[in-house]
Order: sequence, then C-alpha cells, then structure tokens
Amino acid sequence: MSMEYLFSLRDKKYLVTGGTRGIGRAVTLRFAEAGAAVVANYAHNEEAALELLRLAEPMEGTVDVCRADLTTPKGLACLAEHFQGVSLSGLVHCAATGVHLPISKLRARQFDWVYSLNIRAFFELIQIVIPLLSAGSSIVVLSSSGAVRAVQDYALIGSSKGALESFSRHLAAELAPEKIRVNILCPGSVKTESWDAVPDRESRLEKTITRTPLGRLVTVEEVAAAAHFLCSDASSGFIGHRLVLDGGAGIVE
Ligand SMILES: NC(=O)c1ccc[n+]([C@@H]2O[C@H](COP(=O)([O-])OP(=O)(O)OC[C@H]3O[C@@H](n4cnc5c(N)ncnc54)[C@H](OP(=O)(O)O)[C@@H]3O)[C@@H](O)[C@H]2O)c1
Repeated sequence: MSMEYLFSLRDKKYLVTGGTRGIGRAVTLRFAEAGAAVVANYAHNEEAALELLRLAEPMEGTVDVCRADLTTPKGLACLAEHFQGVSLSGLVHCAATGVHLPISKLRARQFDWVYSLNIRAFFELIQIVIPLLSAGSSIVVLSSSGAVRAVQDYALIGSSKGALESFSRHLAAELAPEKIRVNILCPGSVKTESWDAVPDRESRLEKTITRTPLGRLVTVEEVAAAAHFLCSDASSGFIGHRLVLDGGAGIVE
C-alpha cells in the first residue's frame, strides 16, 4: 500500500463530537485536509461553528456542522436525524465537560452534569453510530491522564474519563469482529478554551511545561495528527490501545 493511500481519508465520512472548538476543531480541519467529509458536532457556540466553516472552505474535503446537545434526548434525536441513511467511516469523540473542585466541595448535581456528557452521552451516541459504521471504520475516544492518575481538583472529570476508557476497551473487543476499531487517545495538557475554567491555569500550565521533556505543551495540531493516524489504515493493528501524547510528561517524576 502506498504511503499516500495509507493516510488518505478521501471518500470517507467522519463525525467529530465537540468538533468546532479546541482539539475537536483541529481534528475536523486535519481530516478535511486529508480529503474526508466531516460533520462537526457542537452544543451551543454558533460563532465557533461558523468560524470553522470559514476555515474549512479551501480544504480538499468538506465540513458540515450539526448542533446537537449530546446530553439531551432532543439533541440525540437531532443527531440521529442528521445521519439517517448515511454511512460513516468513523467517529472521533471529543465532546466533554468538567468541574474543577476538590471532592469535598463537589455536589451530586455536578457529578450528574459531568457524567451525563463524559460517559452517558458516549453510550447513547454509539447506539446511534454503530449501525452507520462500515467495515474498516475507526472510533477514537479522547481521554486524559486523570483517568489513571490523581490530578488536582480533577476527580469528577478524571473518574468519568476512567469509565469512558473502560467502556471503550469493552467496545473495542465487541466491535473488532465487525472490523471496527476503537482506540483511546490521551493527550497531556493542551492549551484550549477548556483551560479557562481552571483556577491558577497559567501557573499549572507553566509547571507542566517545566516538567515536560518536550519543553512545551503539545498542540491541538499534534493531537489531530494522532487522531488521523488512529483513523487511517496506517494504524490497522491498533485495537483498544491507549495512545498517550504528552511530550514525555508521563515518563518523568
Ligand atoms: N485541553 C486539554 O488540556 C485536554 C487534555 C487531555 C484531554 N482532553 C480532552 O480532549 C477533548 C477536547 O478538549 P478541548 O480542551 O478541546 O475542549 P473544548 O475546547 O472545551 O471544546 C469542547 C467541545 O465540546 C463541545 N460540547 C460541549 N458540551 C457538549 C454537549 N453537551 N454536546 C455536544 N458537544 C458539546 C463544545 O461545543 P460548544 O462550542 O457548542 O460548547 C466544543 O466544541 C475532551 O474530551 C477533553 O477531555 C483535553
């Protein structure tokens, strides 16, 4: 197989949840650049969706957007309608939310809020998406280091990502006979708007940079390139894998 063919996403169609901002936006643009037709899902921010459509205009592939809050029956129904009769080559699941507080300050409503998107929505989403996936498809699920390590004020997000990872490994085993691959992509800290909600954001990012062998944060483009790899035929042997992309932060004390 030629190198170009190995990474080509031409004639393929993908759904990217949370695909209009941050990492999801970079994935959408990267996939469109590789020739794919991409549907970027989002919940509220129309401006970001319009900006994405402008950015995608010159690309080889196409970008469409689908506003659907994945935590609501209405949003899920809207998404299902959007994809009626459509065949998909894959899904990149980026949509997530979080509350950054110590456990003693967290309340049950915050637990429900975070878990409703970070794990329950994925469960609901794949019930819609699996019937649309053709053989050779790939699902990539975005997780984070908090799924396996204790990160300051990150108990809710980290534990929901832990559940998401376990669920994804079960899904990977179940879908492998259908020739559908599921993998987990786990970036280190990436500067996106999601960091706006983190108290002492600047000092924490500085600390991460200091202890990261790469000497900087990984970028949204680097995460998108890894998602591209996991959706391309170049990664055909990867199933249920947890790909860490953190500039080496995880290998040092
Ligand atoms: N940034 C990091 O440092 C980092 C590190 C490790 C892992 N990750 C993971 O990478 C993924 C992307 O993170 P990010 O920092 O790029 O996030 P982000 O910039 O906050 O973008 C979040 C995206 O999710 C969408 N979204 C939010 N709630 C939704 C809902 N209920 N239904 C559908 N879409 C919804 C948003 O749409 P609207 O614009 O409409 O709100 C937006 O497009 C997440 O899974 C995150 O956990 C991030």
